[in-house]
Amino acid sequence: MPNTTGQQAPGQQAATLEAFDAVDVIRTKRDDSELSTEQIDWVIDAYTRGAVGDEQMSALAMAIYLNGMTADETAAWTRAMIASGERMDFSGLDQPTADKHSTGGVGDKITLPLAPLVAAFGVAVPQLSGRGLGHTGGTLDKLESIPGWRADLDAEEMLAMLRDPGAVICAAGAGLAPADKKLYALRDITGTVEAIPLIASSIMSKKIAEGTGALVLDVKVGSGAFMKDLASARSLAQTMVALGREAGVETSALLTDMSTPLGRTVGNALEVRESLEVLAGGGPADVVDLTVALAAEMLRLAGRDTGEDAVRDALQDGRAMDVWRTMIERQGGDPDADLPQATETETVTAESDGVLMELDALAVGTASWRLGAGRARKEDAVQAGAGLEIHVKPGEAVRAGQPILPLHSDDSARFGRARESLASAIVVEPAAEGADAAAEPIVLDRIS
Ligand code: URA
Repeated sequence: MPNTTGQQAPGQQAATLEAFDAVDVIRTKRDDSELSTEQIDWVIDAYTRGAVGDEQMSALAMAIYLNGMTADETAAWTRAMIASGERMDFSGLDQPTADKHSTGGVGDKITLPLAPLVAAFGVAVPQLSGRGLGHTGGTLDKLESIPGWRADLDAEEMLAMLRDPGAVICAAGAGLAPADKKLYALRDITGTVEAIPLIASSIMSKKIAEGTGALVLDVKVGSGAFMKDLASARSLAQTMVALGREAGVETSALLTDMSTPLGRTVGNALEVRESLEVLAGGGPADVVDLTVALAAEMLRLAGRDTGEDAVRDALQDGRAMDVWRTMIERQGGDPDADLPQATETETVTAESDGVLMELDALAVGTASWRLGAGRARKEDAVQAGAGLEIHVKPGEAVRAGQPILPLHSDDSARFGRARESLASAIVVEPAAEGADAAAEPIVLDRIS
């Protein structure tokens, strides 16, 4: 129904004639009916230009949260968000392109070794990343702990990096899917983040607009992830894979465990240090296994199916490290510089002998955030050296008094609150009862 609900700028004489009435669109979804593509195109466009207000979009997002969206609605919603901004185009490159997106986890530093590893096989990796909010860390925050490294590149600098050394990790410009930027900030403050169609369209609109030819989604499952159980993670993964395919992007998803942190470090510089161990052919088995699994999947989708053994070799023989060093140097960083260290340290120790049965990812992520590694508001600064080391992983034996989690911060007043969040995160059981606490496989399923 045509309508004149456009908000007027000061001094404006007449409102624009709008194609729909926002209240009708809200009522349609409130009453659990299907939105038409025209309604969706209009509401996303009108919200982006300010003709639909935050209060109206909040009501619509809540109706979607409660009643869901069909596959057709979700696809139309995603296309409309892509159309709200610019699309990058890497078709001029000689190499195929492949990217990875993680739904976010604790200790998830995988992008750092993964991008140079895939580039070492001649597949270009345009990895547009973000800063962290809440208990999961951001890739850019980690890289910014390397002295001199800068996240902001223009399109020409990005293209030059994709040609040589073949991978780039940098900040996503404001021009990609601006409708999502506005809507995500609104969902964050209206209790409407956790809706599968909204999460899927938010992630996929940015990834499709980024212009990659192939995309592997790392959908995390467990306490430290958005999706706490396998069924909802599978549903999110299937929705995103379908959206990618529909847009002509070769897409698949790995469902991976996030009940406990990845690797043995959480925090910005600490995670860079561990990534360097992986690039040097060492590092914790879970980080190596996931890096290799994701790299092999990206290469397969990009048409360079090498298998996992060849991928492991490129970590062992230094090819991935060579690409990494060039990537860091080209963005102003010094790959040989000492990484920042926090000034204060305190250690959480085991209370009894036994086997570590659980180390809860959400609690560890919250502790790292409270130590100063993360931010509560997007304008907050992060401490490069803050975070925790994980000396004992689930399935390993401990003795009473043994250090489990050394905590690091520049501010010793933060240790108390960090310890509070860890209070019930560590479960140690006597060795006999803990005998079956073998580490879970990191990759739980694949959706393609
Ligand atoms: N990450 C996004 O980019 N969007 C969401 O909705 C959730 C996680």
